[in-house]
Amino acid sequence: MTKEINKEELLVQQEYIEKVKAINAKREQMPLAHVHSFGCQQNVSDGEKIKGMLAQMGYGFTPETAFADLILFNTCAVRENAEDRVFGNIGALKKLKEKNRNLIIAVGGCMVQQEHIAQRMKKSFPQVDIIFGTHVMHTLPQMIYEKLSENRRTLSIPESDGVIAEGLPVIRESKVKASVPIMYGCNNFCTYCIVPYVRGRERSREMSAIVAEAEALRDSGVKEIMLLGQNVNSYGKGLQTPVTFAQLLKALDDVGIPRIRFMTSHPKDASFKLIDTIAAQPKICKHLHLPVQCGSDRLLVQMNRHYTVEHYLELIEYARKKVPGITFSSDIIVGFPGETEEDFQKTLELVQKVGYMQLFTFIYSKRTGTKAADMPDPTPRKEKTDRMTRLLKVQDDIAMALVKAQVGQTVRVLVEGYGRNEGTLSGRLDNNLTVEFKADPALMGSYAMVRLTGARATVLLGELVES
Ligand code: SAH
Ligand code: SF4
Ligand code: F3S
Repeated sequence: MTKEINKEELLVQQEYIEKVKAINAKREQMPLAHVHSFGCQQNVSDGEKIKGMLAQMGYGFTPETAFADLILFNTCAVRENAEDRVFGNIGALKKLKEKNRNLIIAVGGCMVQQEHIAQRMKKSFPQVDIIFGTHVMHTLPQMIYEKLSENRRTLSIPESDGVIAEGLPVIRESKVKASVPIMYGCNNFCTYCIVPYVRGRERSREMSAIVAEAEALRDSGVKEIMLLGQNVNSYGKGLQTPVTFAQLLKALDDVGIPRIRFMTSHPKDASFKLIDTIAAQPKICKHLHLPVQCGSDRLLVQMNRHYTVEHYLELIEYARKKVPGITFSSDIIVGFPGETEEDFQKTLELVQKVGYMQLFTFIYSKRTGTKAADMPDPTPRKEKTDRMTRLLKVQDDIAMALVKAQVGQTVRVLVEGYGRNEGTLSGRLDNNLTVEFKADPALMGSYAMVRLTGARATVLLGELVES
């Protein structure tokens, strides 16, 4: 059963927030925090809550570690290079700590939820004051208070199936777009993946809590929400009154935020009904991120993915038929243990058949504790990087052709930022592509109609259509 953190526990943390705030108020200048989240959007979303709590404790924020009184890394464990980067970054903080003995360094998130990593960090990096896992993020105020008041070093990485903490404050990067987690954790145990081990079991937020958050976002002027979960299609299964993802989408549609996105859909649970929902609800983006991982049925079994290439292609075909103009993106792992050239050719074939707008490609990285870590992996690294290069080449050509094929249309765009060329703004289409066009920055955060006139690599170029 999911453990929702109860009100009393959160009230205790609220008291620590007040205590830290009182300490910080006595400083001559407002203390500054540097918070950096690595990894997926779920982690970035956690980082926004960490910032929310820090702001309540009286911290301001700085993008520079050199000016910070508190540095917090929210880490990712999904691949080895993600972890190496964190170790490198923490190593570099040693000098800052020598200069400023009062600097607090905290490391949280997926990477340190692994016991062997947390222990290594504690031993090899004495400059780190607070190490906290994914299930105790809401206790950060207490950990900071104990550091400030007793100079106590904390390592807190309890094992847990996972908790849900509702009502934490949030500081979001954008005023236009917002991420909204709808579920946490994962039950799928794909054999290569560390996420289920570091994030606990799959658990959904109550629909009423999600809708209330969406209503508040709408009232603050947010134009697009991104619903987050490792497998959004199984949303609602464990709730006391079970609901489906389609029901949630319907409820959110009624809230009235103009654009709704979601990720990730696992192909084993993405249903024809989900595609019907996308077709029926115009606020839902015409884009599906449907990670296939590879195009070989033999390897899909080894990966424990529970679908075949045939089923995957059926979903794609159905979506194309029901939602004209829909685009697809995917994740691909190259060099899974035992991947042969023949398996890889099947991946290339699949990529060509689907015609993805965007691919996120990864060379397999061995994760301690996962099943795949024990599988024989005889393919040399050089062979794997060579396969990756070939895949990227194939994908580049596909993406460029798809982008060019959009030219000539007039489309609705949500203006999100500045373009690369001077005087231009950048925005996104319903199908997730980006377009740049000349316009008054006053348009930022609103919708505009844009005629697509050309493309620079995979970015569209356009002209504002005066309404
Ligand atoms: N829940 C999502 C994916 C989350 S992790 C899903 O199932 O689709 C994001 C991506 O990282 C995965 O889709 C996979 O392509 C990649 N990934 C995960 N573990 C990996 C590993 N050990 N080596 C390389 N890539 C990995
Ligand atoms: Fe990892 Fe698979 Fe869960 Fe995605 S579905 S997070 S790849 S175990
Ligand atoms: Fe996300 Fe990385 Fe954790 S991908 S869930 S931050 S391991």
